Amino acid sequence: MAPDQPRPVSILLDCDPGHDDAVAILLALGSPQVRLLGISTCFGNCAVEDATRNAQRVLALAGRADVPVAVGAAGPLVGDVALGNYVHGVSGLDGPPLPEPAADPVAEDAVAFLRHRLLEAAEPVTLVVTGPMTNAGRLLRDHPEVADRIAEVVFMGGSTERGNHTPTAEFNTYADPEALDVVLRSGVQVRMVGLNLTHQALATPEVVERMRAIPTGIGRTCAAWMGFFGDSYHRLWEFDSPPVHDPCTIAALVDPEVIEWREAFVAVELDGTWTRGTTVVDLHRRYPDQPVNAQVAVRLDADRYWDLVIDALHRLGDAP
Ligand code: BDR
Ligand code: CA
Repeated sequence: MAPDQPRPVSILLDCDPGHDDAVAILLALGSPQVRLLGISTCFGNCAVEDATRNAQRVLALAGRADVPVAVGAAGPLVGDVALGNYVHGVSGLDGPPLPEPAADPVAEDAVAFLRHRLLEAAEPVTLVVTGPMTNAGRLLRDHPEVADRIAEVVFMGGSTERGNHTPTAEFNTYADPEALDVVLRSGVQVRMVGLNLTHQALATPEVVERMRAIPTGIGRTCAAWMGFFGDSYHRLWEFDSPPVHDPCTIAALVDPEVIEWREAFVAVELDGTWTRGTTVVDLHRRYPDQPVNAQVAVRLDADRYWDLVIDALHRLGDAP
């Protein structure tokens, strides 16, 4: 990094890979503006064992098995486990063959791992969450003393508009609303990247072609992932191109100009006959007595976003 560049943002990435989580990992690894201190995993797109293996295989693909991986929650704080294999396939990351993990997960579970990494860091660390909020919710519920060690929580989840897993609830917020509720009430600075934003991050045929043209296995793998993910989105939601949700969180840290934000009171529905897990985003101050507790992503510069992703993939060489 050139001397006049700002210091990289240190992050911990809590995820459930997942095709778009996998691209988020690669974007973090390939962006000098971000320093990935570790990965924790959660149930979500698949069982947590598969999410952990998928994270390790993506790290092996990038030749970065040195990044520590901690195994997290197998289910939510309350209620039944919801899984997204219907979108991401049997493994949670179906598609092209991937290398086997090149390292074991760390001995600590995700909550202990996140806590230790936050406490030992010289400065507050950004916690990026691209799966259900379970690990972060448990961390802040059981160890509230770490709150001031978290620079902010940037999460993919919820929506200002409609849902995907149910008509009103996005998958990650549906999968563990109680955990999100803990985080939203914690006093930690929160940025929400919901479906209203990520549906602007479409991997169009032109984007996929740019991935395929990268002269590494990583580029071809990402292009193939988009094929599997795109087929799911076409079958389930009639999209022509798949929205690549999770890397939007990392992109916001790489380039502060790529997303436009609005501040709002955000709550998550914990009950409701049909609406459990739905985010309520008060963009127009209809609840004036409620505090603003989040920055909400509203507009993506999609060209800039894809340039960031493609540039990062170019920077990553193939694993030795
Ligand atoms: C979210 O759910 C998962 O399918 C994706 O990985 C993303 O985090 C989108 O609703
Ligand atoms: Ca995810």
